[in-house]
Amino acid sequence: MPFINLILLTLHNIARWVFIVVAIILLVQSFQGWFGKKVYSDQNRTLTTIFIILFDVQILIGIILFFSKGWGSVMMTAGDIMSTAALRFFAVEHWMIMLLAVILAHIGSGQVKKAATDLQKFRRAAIWFSISFILVLGGIPWPGMAAGRPLLRLFGMTI
Ligand code: HEM
Repeated sequence: MPFINLILLTLHNIARWVFIVVAIILLVQSFQGWFGKKVYSDQNRTLTTIFIILFDVQILIGIILFFSKGWGSVMMTAGDIMSTAALRFFAVEHWMIMLLAVILAHIGSGQVKKAATDLQKFRRAAIWFSISFILVLGGIPWPGMAAGRPLLRLFGMTI
């Protein structure tokens, strides 16, 4: 694998964990704000921005990785790819699920901004970001799946 790909794959792998931690904190805050009728603060706003930036960075790295795989250059037909679960996952499922998830996150973030009250902001954040996060969890190539990938990658080293 070219070294630049190994760097991007390492980043994509580790950023997944940062993303998951930020998403969980954001969701906990959103539900607490919603049910605890809290004030929507600058800190809530900042965390949402960090969540969206991390998401966009993952999408960007993912798109570069996708095109660097050179699907067309390998001697495989679309039929071969679609009939092999491990190939189909990265050719079709992974990016489609993640793209849908990031679109929902962006719509949600817009909806949160437009909301008139703090309660509405927290409720919209909780609902939109939960759906998006569930999609992300479902779209990750967890170990054990046909297309499973390591839990942690540090260049050549994997766990
Ligand atoms: C449109 C969005 C995305 C695209 C196009 C994309 C694409 C890819 C590609 C091409 C690979 C590498 C497969 C390989 O080298 O064989 C990959 C691996 C992976 N992706 Fe994505 N990805 C996207 C979004 C995301 C997001 C949002 C996350 C998680 C937050 C994520 C998590 C992962 C993980 C954990 C791996 C395995 C990394 C490893 O092997 O160490 N991806 N992705």
